[in-house]
Amino acid sequence: MNVIFLSPGYPAEMPLFVRGLAEVGARVLGVGDQPLGSVPIDARRYLSAYLHVPNLMDESDVVRRVAHWVRGISIDRVEALGEYWVVLAARIREVLGTGGMSVNKALTFRDKEAMKQVLDAHGIRTPHHYRCATVSQCWEAAERIGFPVIVKPIAGAGSAKTYRCNDTTEFEHALRQTANVPEVSVEEFIDGEEFTFDTLTCDGEILYYNIAWYRPRPLVARSNEWVSPQVIALRNVKQPFFKDGIKMGYDVIRALGFESGFTHMEWYRKSSGEVVFGEIGGRPPGARQVDQMNYACDFDSFYEWANIVCRKRMNAQIVRKYNVATVFKRAQGQGRIRQILGLDKLKEDFGNWLVWENLLPVGAHRRDWLQTLISDGFLVVRHPDLNKTIEMADRIGTELRLLAS
Ligand SMILES: Nc1ncnc2c1ncn2[C@@H]1O[C@H](COP(=O)(O)OP(=O)(O)OP(=O)(O)O)[C@@H](O)[C@H]1O
Ligand SMILES: [Mg+2]
Repeated sequence: MNVIFLSPGYPAEMPLFVRGLAEVGARVLGVGDQPLGSVPIDARRYLSAYLHVPNLMDESDVVRRVAHWVRGISIDRVEALGEYWVVLAARIREVLGTGGMSVNKALTFRDKEAMKQVLDAHGIRTPHHYRCATVSQCWEAAERIGFPVIVKPIAGAGSAKTYRCNDTTEFEHALRQTANVPEVSVEEFIDGEEFTFDTLTCDGEILYYNIAWYRPRPLVARSNEWVSPQVIALRNVKQPFFKDGIKMGYDVIRALGFESGFTHMEWYRKSSGEVVFGEIGGRPPGARQVDQMNYACDFDSFYEWANIVCRKRMNAQIVRKYNVATVFKRAQGQGRIRQILGLDKLKEDFGNWLVWENLLPVGAHRRDWLQTLISDGFLVVRHPDLNKTIEMADRIGTELRLLAS
């Protein structure tokens, strides 16, 4: 089986999916804009071939180059697991005549308005929303919805250029900040807790799902540098609290006709118990949340993803053993990390519940926390008990400090 895989070396979890494909017996043909020498060895060792393209974002150019490259070879799957390449993968499929998600379908995963239109038609509760290309359309939308509203790019990612506006002054500010964005969504602001619903789906059937809890909500985390954002994969997903959210996730997969692979949904639960849909990506969550699933159930979801896309089956029996919290840290100060405080004590106290330490080392340059959720690194802890998990996560938030200068 020949599988084209876009961007095998970036972001950091991609080599693990490449490994999964190779382990289920696929020949992996990588396509990326990193020179081969820059593709991490963990991906390179599993690639049968690699095409270096100048720019993965230049869709027409990449489609042409790939079609030329694989002439005469039969391609069974084209896979892309990063948000920006989901549509590109579909375009390559169309040109090569490979099965899998079409361009039109892929666009409903990328374009937040197109997505919501399909969901609305299927009776799934979305925030009241409008697609706006001009300032006057934005004002009209805000008037119809009433404050507070959210303004965000139609094809956004990472909460970039996303604004909560409580009044006209904040709205004016948001419009100025998004002036260069060709189209925005103006939406009813939904107050509530925010969760993920992530699935491994095979021919439209959900074989595994994961629910993670964002603490605090992503927009709050992205608006306040001092926050150490937490993402907690939950063990007890069968409790009544999640029943409506899970049902909504199943309904969304059906409504959008998703076929096989990973999906990543986000949804809100209001204090009244009402659930509202946020968005879906036709790809796994980022920021090492797939690793989180592995830590929660002690299985290999990278392998099982490959098993599903290549062989339409999953081998693992899912047993939810742990809650898993990832806590992202942002250093205080600018420049290089000079000191890491509090880590030894936390390690001593947490023992084996601390399963992954991935902080930037002393001497490293800080990352741009607005550009990457990973920020200056993270710790992952797990525990069968949710309160114990939260307690550890909160201690990482307050007691672990990275100082930069
Ligand atoms: N209608 C809404 N009501 C309340 N909060 C919202 C709404 N829309 C977006 N947000 C907040 O903004 C964040 C980012 O929005 P959204 O998830 O739609 O965009 P994104 O940039 O694609 O996200 P991601 O970070 O998942 O790539 C959400 O996680 C949520 O916290
Ligand atoms: Mg989102």
